[in-house]
Amino acid sequence: MISMKMAIVSHVYLLCIFIVAGTADDFIFRKVHLNSAKAVGFSWSNCGGDKDPAVMNTMSLSPDPIVIPGDLKASAAGSTAVALSSPLSVNVTLHKEVAGFWVKVPCVEQIGSCDYEDVCQLLDTLIPPGQDCPEPLHTYGIPCHCPFKSGDYTLPEANFYLPQVDLPYWLTNGNYEIVGVLGNNGQQLGCLKVTLSIHTA
Ligand SMILES: *[C@@H]1O[C@H](CO)[C@@H](O)[C@H](O)[C@H]1NC(C)=O
Repeated sequence: MISMKMAIVSHVYLLCIFIVAGTADDFIFRKVHLNSAKAVGFSWSNCGGDKDPAVMNTMSLSPDPIVIPGDLKASAAGSTAVALSSPLSVNVTLHKEVAGFWVKVPCVEQIGSCDYEDVCQLLDTLIPPGQDCPEPLHTYGIPCHCPFKSGDYTLPEANFYLPQVDLPYWLTNGNYEIVGVLGNNGQQLGCLKVTLSIHTA
């Protein structure tokens, strides 16, 4: 993965793009099968202060638009001045632009503006310890379990296939802003903001 930051980024922030983007409103639990969706105008920035020990240095996704299902090229580099260890929280805030206003999307079924108490546990659940980290992490020797040592993490450009997914049907066209705050015991370690637009077909 990329940095611990990217570990989280990959697993949470990036997932956010395709899954959280499908956050459900309380009254809309229905899922739809989309033939395809496009994500346009992906951009990112660090949103913490200078004191945040974990920062993203580069991050790129292409093509623009990103088509789902389809191929995605991603690269990222991040660094952390401190080891990232359990409990590693990620607090996600998702806003969607509705009629010109930015509306906070609630947390429903673990998707939306959700606080994840310990991403380390989540990673251990997704990827059983002892098993090779998924590609392309394995190839580049990027770890996928806590603790992530302090230092620099780089994922050179790698190809991913984005499968077709069922999304809450209200996740149609729109502009989204996702902020993820990485923390440990209430102390902020890093903050990443991602914006993009989704167009469904
Ligand atoms: C994340 O949210 C929890 C509440 O769910 C809070 O206790 C914690 O301080 C937050 N973390 C950061 C770094 O703000």
